[in-house]
Amino acid sequence: MIKIHPSILCADLGNLANDLKRLEGADYLHIDVMDGDFVPNFGLGTNMIEHVRKHSDIPLDVHLMIRNPSRHIRHFRDIGAKIVTVHPEADTHISGTLQLIRELGMTPGIALNPGTSVETVKEVLPLCDHVLVMTVNPGFAGQKFLDFTLLKLAELGKLAEEKKFDLCVDGNIDFDRVKLLRPLGIKSFVIGTALFKHDPAEMIRKIKKENK
Ligand code: DX5
Ligand code: ZN
Repeated sequence: MIKIHPSILCADLGNLANDLKRLEGADYLHIDVMDGDFVPNFGLGTNMIEHVRKHSDIPLDVHLMIRNPSRHIRHFRDIGAKIVTVHPEADTHISGTLQLIRELGMTPGIALNPGTSVETVKEVLPLCDHVLVMTVNPGFAGQKFLDFTLLKLAELGKLAEEKKFDLCVDGNIDFDRVKLLRPLGIKSFVIGTALFKHDPAEMIRKIKKENK
């Protein structure tokens, strides 16, 4: 069964508690944390994550788009993260950070920018349960899908079973794109703009029914 991770960045933040109730069937809530340095945007901070935690029981998948993430791993554990995903481009000691995430009882994930190759992370794939491929440049929702990332997705799709990680995509995913990408071995989908535009629970149901 595929997994859907709604991107909370795309929810109505002024009416978040209400939007969180509309996510029935979601497997994880995808939380984008941005430091204004690794990516040219800010968000979502501690207060917001605690608010999400208070209003939803769906586990949190925290995507850290921040430099030197190892400094903050304990903090995200303390505020309720389940999956913690870090970028190799932002961390000199990525293997230590992935080990720390697991030691603290969470699921280690690695995220690859569109320009980062599989070769760059090959050594640390055995340390990851979750591999997130960015199909837009990280930092903003509502961007155009970058077709050149498809080659990398196909390459990782072939490795996913052997290396035992969940392959996940993030960036301009919608109903049609899930259908196209599922045969590549992708099991998990972050969906932002396309999900909150409609009735999210209805769309999650429809996507899961079509892609078993
Ligand atoms: C982009 C974020 C994504 C984004 C997804 O930096 O990592 O999670 O919110 O939004 P859409 O689906 O609109 O690309
Ligand atoms: Zn994200």
